[in-house]
Amino acid sequence: ATYRSTRSTREVLEILLNGLQRLEYRGYDSAGICIDNPVDSETPILIREVGNVGALRTKVYATNNLPLDATHDNIVGIAHTRWATHGEPCERNAHPHSSNKLEFSVVHNGIMTNYVEVKKFLQEQSYTFTSDTDTEVIAVLAEYLKSQRPDVSFTQLTMEVMEMIGGAYALVLKSNKYYPGELIACKRGSPMIVGWRQLRHVDVVGVQDAERSPRGVELLTDFFISSDSSALAEHTSKVVYMDDDDVVHFHNGTASFYNKQRNEDFQKLRAEARELNQLEIAVESLSKGPYAHFMLKEIYEQSESVMNSMRGRLNFQTKSVMLGGLSEENVYTINSSRRILFISCGTSLNACLAVRPTFDELLNLPIAMENASDFLDRQPHVFRDDVCVFVSQSGETADTLRALEYCQKKGATLVGFTNTVGSSISRLTHFGSHLNCGVEVGVASTKAFTSQIVVMMLAVLRLSDDSRRLAPRRHEIMDALSRLSADVAECLRMVAPKVKALAQRLLDAKSVLVLGRGYQFASCLEAALKIKELTYVHTEGINSGELKHGPLALIDENIPVIIFCTKDAHIDRARSAIQQVRARKGKPIAIISERDEEVEAAADDIIQVPQTVDCLQALINIIPMQMLAYELAVLRGNNVDCPRNLAKSVTTQ
Ligand code: G6P
Repeated sequence: ATYRSTRSTREVLEILLNGLQRLEYRGYDSAGICIDNPVDSETPILIREVGNVGALRTKVYATNNLPLDATHDNIVGIAHTRWATHGEPCERNAHPHSSNKLEFSVVHNGIMTNYVEVKKFLQEQSYTFTSDTDTEVIAVLAEYLKSQRPDVSFTQLTMEVMEMIGGAYALVLKSNKYYPGELIACKRGSPMIVGWRQLRHVDVVGVQDAERSPRGVELLTDFFISSDSSALAEHTSKVVYMDDDDVVHFHNGTASFYNKQRNEDFQKLRAEARELNQLEIAVESLSKGPYAHFMLKEIYEQSESVMNSMRGRLNFQTKSVMLGGLSEENVYTINSSRRILFISCGTSLNACLAVRPTFDELLNLPIAMENASDFLDRQPHVFRDDVCVFVSQSGETADTLRALEYCQKKGATLVGFTNTVGSSISRLTHFGSHLNCGVEVGVASTKAFTSQIVVMMLAVLRLSDDSRRLAPRRHEIMDALSRLSADVAECLRMVAPKVKALAQRLLDAKSVLVLGRGYQFASCLEAALKIKELTYVHTEGINSGELKHGPLALIDENIPVIIFCTKDAHIDRARSAIQQVRARKGKPIAIISERDEEVEAAADDIIQVPQTVDCLQALINIIPMQMLAYELAVLRGNNVDCPRNLAKSVTTQ
C-alpha cells in the first residue's frame, strides 16, 4: 500500500505496480490494485487480474478513461499479490476485496479462521458476497460495524474489526466513502512494515532555494506500507516494524501508531511512539544482473555468500569464532540446557538435519529435530530449560512462528537463525544470528541453505570452544571453512557442464530417487525437494539405510537413482547401496568427491565435486543438485523463480 502527498494517479499506480513486481519472487497467482479516483472521490478504481503483475499492468493501462494525469492530495492506493488459500485463483477472488458498494477495500495476508461464522452472520443481515475468500468478509464486516456506529473513527472501527477476526493477519484498509484520504494498516502474526520519505517541495511562488528561503516551501511525506521490505527498499530506508496488535492510521500527512492490547477502551485511544529502524537492503540485490534467473544468480553467488556468513565471525588465524548473538552468558544457557530442539520447515529444516550430526558430536546434549507443523499438531512437552532453535530464511514462516509462540509459552529459551533483519523470528527470539547471505529472491532456496549450514556450524564451534579434547576436530572444521568459498567456486566450475548433460538425459524421467546416508541424508532430502519444487517431477530423498526396507521395490531400468558416494566414514555402505541398485538393473548416478573404482564401475554417470571435511560435504554436494533442478526446470519450460503453487514466504498455516 502507499499513501502519498499530492501526486498523480499514474505516479501512485507505478509505485504500486513496481512494488508488486518486487514481491513477485514470493510466488502468487493473481494480483490487483485499488486506488483513489480523482474524478469520483467516493468510488475508487479497482482492477484485478489472474496471472502475473505484467498482466495486471497491461489491464490497468488498457482500462478506458483512467484519469492518469489528474492529481490529488493525500492520494491512497493499495495492491496485493494473492496466493490462493480460500477459493481458486480467479479475478473475483483476487485482492483487493471490497464491501458491496466499494465502501471499504481491503488487502489481506493470512487466514481468517472464523470467516464461515462471520460470513453467515453477515448474510443473515442481508449482506451479499461475490468471492469465496475470507478477505471479502473483512471488508463487509467493516461496512456492517460502521453502519451500527456511524460516528466511529477509522482507528476505532479497525480495532472492532480486529476484535472479531480470528487467526493471523496483516491488513490494509481504505474507505473512500467514510474516510477519504485516510489509510489503516494492522497486523497480528503476519509481518507489516511502514516506511516513509520526506521530500522538500518548492511551490509555485518560484522559490528556488528551499534551504535559504523556507517561505513557500512545504514538507511532503510519502508513506509506504508493505509485508516485505523488498517493496520499500527503492523508496526509503526509514522504517518501523509493526508489532502484533499494532494499528497505524495515516491521515493528513501523519502516521499514528496504536496498540489494540494497550487500548482496551476503543473510545479513548492513545497513540504511541515507535522505534525507528534503518532498512539494510541493497536495491541491486533485487536485480538479476547478467543471469537469466534469480535462482541461477543465487546458485553462483554461493562462493561469496558463504564467505559473507563467516565475515567478522570466524578468525582463521586465532581459530576462534565470535557470534554477536552467542555471548558468554548465552553459550552457558545453551550448554546447561536440557536439550536443543531445532524447529523449522522446508529447506531450513533440511539445513538443520545437515548440521545435526555435528551438534551430536561436539555437544553433550540431546538434539531433536522438529518439523514445525507436525510439532504443532502433536503439541509435545517443552520445558523451561529447553533451548528451541528456529531456523528460517524469511523469519516469517507461519508454522515456525506458531511453534515459536508455543515454546515461548512454555518458558523455553528461544534462539533464531534467519536471513531477514527485523523479521518476526529475529525479533521474538531471545538471541541468535543472521545469515548475512543477502536477499534471496528465487522461491527455491539455495544460498540461504548453504549459509544456514555455515552459520549453524559457527554456532556449534562457538558452543564447543572450551573443550580441549575437541580442539583438533574443531580446527579441522575451521580449516575447511577457510577453504569453503574456494571449494564452492571450484565445485560450480567442475559440475556445470556435467549437470547440463545429465539434465538432458533425465528430461523425461517420471520419478527420481536420491539416496544417501549419514551426513548425506540431509543432502538427499534437500536435493529431492529442489528437484520436485522446480521440475514438478516426483522425487524422493531416501536414507539408503532404508533401501532394503521398501524402496528397493521401486528400482528398475527406468528410474534414475542419484546416490551420494562422497568420501566419509560411510563410504563402504554407500558402495553397497550402489551395488544393490545396479543388481536390480538400476542405472545409478553417483556423486563422488574422490576417484573410486568400485563406484565408477557400478555407476552409469559420475559427477565429481571437491572433497571437504565430512561434516561440510553436504554443503558442496547440494550444488550440483541445485544446478540439476535448475537445468531441468529450464528445459521443461517451467517458471524457475516462481514454481507453480509455491510461495517463498508461507505466512499462512
Ligand atoms: C517455503 C519455501 C521454501 C522454504 C520454506 C521455509 O515452503 O518455498 O523454500 O524452505 O518455506 O521458509 P523459511 O523462510 O522459514 O526458511
